[in-house]
Amino acid sequence: MKVVVIGAQWGDEGKGKIVDYLAEDAEYVVRYAGGPNAGHTIVVDGKQFALHQVPSGILYPNKSVFLGAGMVIDPEALFNELQMLKDNGINWEGRVFISDRAHIILPRYRKMDKERDSQRKRPIGTTGRGIGIAYSEKSQRDGIRLADLDWKQKMDEFEGEDLEFINKYKDQLIKMRVDLTQKMYEYRKSNILFEGAQGAMLDIDSGTYPYVSSGASCSAGAATGCGIGPHDLDKILGVFKAYETRVGNGPMPTEFNDSDEAESELCRKVRDTGREYGVTTGRARRCGYLDLVALRYACRVNSIDSLVLTHLDIYDPMEQIEACIAYDINGKIVTDFPANVEDMENAKPVLQKFTGWKKSLKEIRKYSKLPKEAREYVEFIEDYCKTPVGIISVGYERDETFIRKNPWKK
Ligand code: IMP
Repeated sequence: MKVVVIGAQWGDEGKGKIVDYLAEDAEYVVRYAGGPNAGHTIVVDGKQFALHQVPSGILYPNKSVFLGAGMVIDPEALFNELQMLKDNGINWEGRVFISDRAHIILPRYRKMDKERDSQRKRPIGTTGRGIGIAYSEKSQRDGIRLADLDWKQKMDEFEGEDLEFINKYKDQLIKMRVDLTQKMYEYRKSNILFEGAQGAMLDIDSGTYPYVSSGASCSAGAATGCGIGPHDLDKILGVFKAYETRVGNGPMPTEFNDSDEAESELCRKVRDTGREYGVTTGRARRCGYLDLVALRYACRVNSIDSLVLTHLDIYDPMEQIEACIAYDINGKIVTDFPANVEDMENAKPVLQKFTGWKKSLKEIRKYSKLPKEAREYVEFIEDYCKTPVGIISVGYERDETFIRKNPWKK
């Protein structure tokens, strides 16, 4: 069985925790997009891990994890991350492999990335990790892949700091390098978990372009990013938070309005209880009401079979909850997600009110035990998106999660 987990919003939906949770039943975990711009937080036995490039399955002692061809990899950041794991008692050696088709981020890309963004009339708010530059080099056909490391003619093109950097990591990378397409074929009868990065709305094609990342964070990215065909993906799970967040610039119609006293107070509560600060950059995340227009669009364009709802517990103390069911764009009510950035910037959310449950969900491990009001919220989402909510997370710990429909079962 092959299960893909993507973020169904603008990233930071809690994918790391969900991948870690589902990895228990997977033999292999493969990350397929992005690079060190991602930040996946996982809490196991009270200990918090922030992973950027290594797939979340690494926290299980015997699982092998793979970094796919759709990724752009910063070797310096990767080996620092692996060292952090080792320092925390996680033995990774012999368990982390990288596709020979994955591309390498050179140190100067980080500076170029930041410089280019600061020169833009409308900056994207990049994480500055060199991601956009590495993907541009790839598209220009000038990138450097792990497969190229022992291609003499290609290596002769590098000099100075670039060559020094490549030589520093070359042997270690070659040791971890595999033909992932061949591995995917070899493991075709196994349970494989495909871990997306960023989110559907940051995908280069279906996201809020140009305010997106540069990789394929859509579900289809799992196929191209690992070297398997789309027919081989059995289930697609879309992780979303009970509210909305976004880091960096770009339209976000449901963002809490800072000049409105009630919304600014709500924003503070959500940001603090939801720990809405970037794992990679430490930036405070923009917060807002759950955007069902965007979520339904994400379900459609990614063929999401089942949704995973996280951070539902953030609403525990609230009297009332609101979610966006349409956009008002200059007086026109719209329920289909627009491609036009100006329309998105002018969109005002049409909000639906829900009654809060006013109790802690932390101990709940069964859907039927959720307060009626929480079930009503979940069922409205399912009905609006025409997609079931199969897993619900009610806390940060691995076990503060419950499954309604096991994705590993046919
Ligand atoms: P870049 O991929 O670093 O160039 O960033 C492009 C945009 O995507 C910026 O708005 C970032 O804040 C956002 N972004 C990139 N990676 C993530 C992520 O993992 N979570 C949330 N936002 C991200």
